[in-house]
Amino acid sequence: MSDLFRKKAVGYDDAEFGLKRVLSALDLTLLGIGAIIGTGIFVLTGVAAATQSGPAVVLSFVVAGFACGFAALSYAELASSVGGCGSAYGYSYAAFGELIAWIIAWDLILEYGVSVAAVANGWSGYFNNALTAIGLGLPEELTKGPFAGGIVNLPAFGIVIILMLLLIMGVRETARINAAMVAVKLATIAVFLAVGLFNIHPANWTPFAPFGWFEHVDGKPVGILAGASLVFFAYVGFDAVSTAVEEARDPQRDVPRGLIGSLIFCTIIYIVVSGVLTGIVNYTELNVSSPVAFALQKIGFNWASALVAAGVIAGLTTVMLVLYYALTRIIVGVSRDGLLPPYFSVVNEKTHTPVRTTVITGLGMAIMSGFIPLGVLAELVNIGTLAAFVLVCAGVIALRKTHPDLDRPFKMPGGIILPVMGVLSCGALIAFLPFETHLRFIVWLALGLIIYFVYSIRHSRLAAA
Ligand code: ALA
Repeated sequence: MSDLFRKKAVGYDDAEFGLKRVLSALDLTLLGIGAIIGTGIFVLTGVAAATQSGPAVVLSFVVAGFACGFAALSYAELASSVGGCGSAYGYSYAAFGELIAWIIAWDLILEYGVSVAAVANGWSGYFNNALTAIGLGLPEELTKGPFAGGIVNLPAFGIVIILMLLLIMGVRETARINAAMVAVKLATIAVFLAVGLFNIHPANWTPFAPFGWFEHVDGKPVGILAGASLVFFAYVGFDAVSTAVEEARDPQRDVPRGLIGSLIFCTIIYIVVSGVLTGIVNYTELNVSSPVAFALQKIGFNWASALVAAGVIAGLTTVMLVLYYALTRIIVGVSRDGLLPPYFSVVNEKTHTPVRTTVITGLGMAIMSGFIPLGVLAELVNIGTLAAFVLVCAGVIALRKTHPDLDRPFKMPGGIILPVMGVLSCGALIAFLPFETHLRFIVWLALGLIIYFVYSIRHSRLAAA
């Protein structure tokens, strides 16, 4: 029996596991936008423009957007045809079987878990600035972990715990709060564009690509393509929509819509915002922690700068919320398949949420974000995500070959050209990342393989079937 059909044979229905189908296509698109727009555009655009791409950071966003676009189309095809437990994990299980699926799940745990902890650190910086502005700033030792000269990053720790409680309450509540904060985040961007568009100095766009497409300076990769590997972080999270497949009302129709809709919307926003940002301030000045607020301040719009800073706090909250949500759903899926202990897939009868997994991962991420400096770990997020995307695109190619007659309500046009482009473009972005990131990723993978061969291989549902 092929893996696809074994997976279906050992599959499960919704009632058995108690997650509720409450999310519409709009909810899914808002979930996507909630997860996508965050640190990438509000922080990394400035870093990438100043150190990697110059004003051509716009092109970095286009390149990364294309790579994600191929991956999103592949996700959409698999979401509509394979169904079952969503996410890259579920699809690669169908396409490649258990081991590759586990490796993907392990990558996704890295992607979502470390992203939440990293974004919590960024959130803490903005939050503390806001507290200081109203005279309630925290003592410095409570805003930094022990490795950075403090005791604990209390706001980062605290926000993860608050999100944990919210996620325990229920997915409908989470979606509602998410929608409200996404509205604030989009309003923030509208304010930035409304002010910024009238303050552009085209001279700031020259030189447009000071570091060219790709070169090495002091042994580090720079240029538009290296910038694309960095700003790729801004797109991390669009795949989180696929993890909601079991809570979507009509997943085969709505998950592809949510995925592609949110990605197109965010790509347009990124191109416009990065173009305006580098038009109002010279790119050399943008290597700061809050480039968007900084640019507005620089041109004398202090009120707009304060508004944007407040909006960023809401924006980063939604990113953490959705990525955290996605993390718990991946772990539930993996645990149901027996690759992790069954303890992790128990869904609470009252709240219909996986309370245990939510609490355990929440505490883990709160501790990470409160005590560990995350700069280095954050780089790992991109490589883990890109590796998952490569396998999703490869999964489409494999399934087209092994199951040509599978019902595919959404099918990418042009045969296998688009998924092949996805494998190549995401693979290329991996290649443009720094060498140390590759090494760390290999260590992470080795750890995953140890867990697989020590535990998962003997306890999986396939092993028992
Ligand atoms: N895409 C998310 C962000 O930029 C992870 O914060």
